[in-house]
Amino acid sequence: MAERWSPTSWKSKPAKQLPAYPDQGKVDAVVERLSSYPPLVFAGEARRLKASLAQAAAGEAFLLQGGDCAESFSEFHPNNIRDTFRVLLQMAVVLTFGAAIPVIKVGRMAGQFAKPRSADMEEVNGVELPSYRGDIVNGFDFTADARVPDPERMMQAYTQAASTLNLLRAFAQGGYADLHKVHQWTLGFLERSPAGEKFEDLANRLDEALAFMAACGITGATTPQLRETDFFTSHEALLLPWEQALTRVDSTTGDWYDVSAHMLWIGDRTRQPDGAHVEFLRGVKNPLGLKCGPSTDPDELIRLIDILNPTNEPGRLTLIVRMGADKVAEKFPPLLRKVTREGRVVLWSCDPMHGNTIKSASGYKTRPFDKVLAEAKGFFAVHQAEGTHAGGVHFELTGQDVTECTGGAQAITDHALADRYHTACDPRLNASQSLELAFLLAEELKRARLAKDAERRAAAAAAE
Ligand code: PEP
Ligand code: CO
Repeated sequence: MAERWSPTSWKSKPAKQLPAYPDQGKVDAVVERLSSYPPLVFAGEARRLKASLAQAAAGEAFLLQGGDCAESFSEFHPNNIRDTFRVLLQMAVVLTFGAAIPVIKVGRMAGQFAKPRSADMEEVNGVELPSYRGDIVNGFDFTADARVPDPERMMQAYTQAASTLNLLRAFAQGGYADLHKVHQWTLGFLERSPAGEKFEDLANRLDEALAFMAACGITGATTPQLRETDFFTSHEALLLPWEQALTRVDSTTGDWYDVSAHMLWIGDRTRQPDGAHVEFLRGVKNPLGLKCGPSTDPDELIRLIDILNPTNEPGRLTLIVRMGADKVAEKFPPLLRKVTREGRVVLWSCDPMHGNTIKSASGYKTRPFDKVLAEAKGFFAVHQAEGTHAGGVHFELTGQDVTECTGGAQAITDHALADRYHTACDPRLNASQSLELAFLLAEELKRARLAKDAERRAAAAAAE
C-alpha cells in the first residue's frame, strides 16, 4: 500500500534543489495567500491534454513542447510572449504538414520560473554567492542582496503567469492562430532567413489547400479547428512551496490537480524515487513529464513509473529523454526496451538540448545546432530500430533573434554569440533555428510514417 498522499506530504521526504529561505514564516505566509488565489489552469483542460498525450503515446499525434529555459521578470513583454507562441505555431504547422498527424502544442511558458543548479554556490573573481535559481526564487544580479531567496517573488510570478496565460488564451482562441493568417506569422527577421523562405513556400501550399477546402464548403466558419488552436502550458515542478500553494481539489471529480500549469515535469536532478519532488507529483492528476538523463537506470525507471503512474494510464506520463548526441544510441535503447518489455504505456519525447550544453571558446554556455539535430535524429533512429514510436520533442527556444546556440543555416559562430546573448539561463534556439529544426524533424516524421504505411501494406498483402 502506498503511503497517504497530501499536498504537504513531500515535506517529510528529502528534497534537492529547494532554496534556503532565511525566514520560513514568510514562506508559509506567501503559500497561504497564494492558496486562496484563483487557479491558473483548469482541471478539465489538463484532462484534455492528457487525452491528447495518450493519442501521441499510441503514435496518433505528436507532442511539441518548447519555450524559454527560464522566464524572467525583466523580459516580461507581450511581444516576447507573442513571438514564442508564434514560432511554436509555425513549427507545429511544419510538423503537421510533414507528418500528417495532429501536433499537441505545449509551451514552457506562463510558469517556467525556477531553475535547478549544478552547484549551490557561484564564484566570480574570488567572490562566492548563492547560485541564481530563477526569478521566482532570487535575483540574477551577482550581488549578495539579489541572491537572497525571497518568497515575495512568488507573488510576482503568479501575476506574470496569469497575464501570460491570459494573452496565450487570446492568441490561441481569438484569431491569431487562424491558419488563414499563416503568412502574417513570418514578419520580421525571419523573412530574411533560409528557414523563413522555406516557411513561405509551405504557407503558399497551405493557402492552396485551404482554398480547395473552402470550395468544398470547409471554412473557419464551419470548422473552428481552422481558426483556433489548443495551447497548453508546462514547467518544471521544482519549487514545491509554489506548486503546493496552487494545488486544489477539482470539484467535478474530487481529484487533486496542480493548477499552476496543465503539465508538470520532474527534472533530471530531482527524480529520486523516495525524494520530495516525486512524492509531490504522484498525488496530482495532471499529465506528468520525467526527464531521463544518462544516469537513468532501467530498473529505477520502472520503479518511478510505478510510483507516478500505478494504473498505467495512457497520457499520464511522458518520458523526456535527454542523453546528449554522443550518448543517445548507447543509453536510450536499454530504457526503451525495458519499459516496452514491462508493458508500461509512456509517451517518449526527445529533449536534444540539455545533454548538449558546452562552454564555447569565448566563454559562453552554448549548444551547437548540429548536436541538437544529431541527438533528435539518433532518438528517431532508435525508435525505428526498435519498432516503437517517437512521440514528441522538447526544446528551449525563443521567438527572438538571439545568438545563443551556434550553427544552423544562419551559421552563428562562436564569435557571434556575444551579439545578442540574452538568456538568463540555458542557451535557446532562435526562431530561425527552431523553424529549420522543425523542417528537418518533419522529414524524420514523414519517413517514419511512410515506413509504417509500407509495413501495414505488406502485412495486409501477406494476410490475403
Ligand atoms: C530544463 O529543462 O531546463 C532542465 C534543467 O532540464 P534537465 O532537468 O533535463 O537538466
Ligand atoms: Co534549461
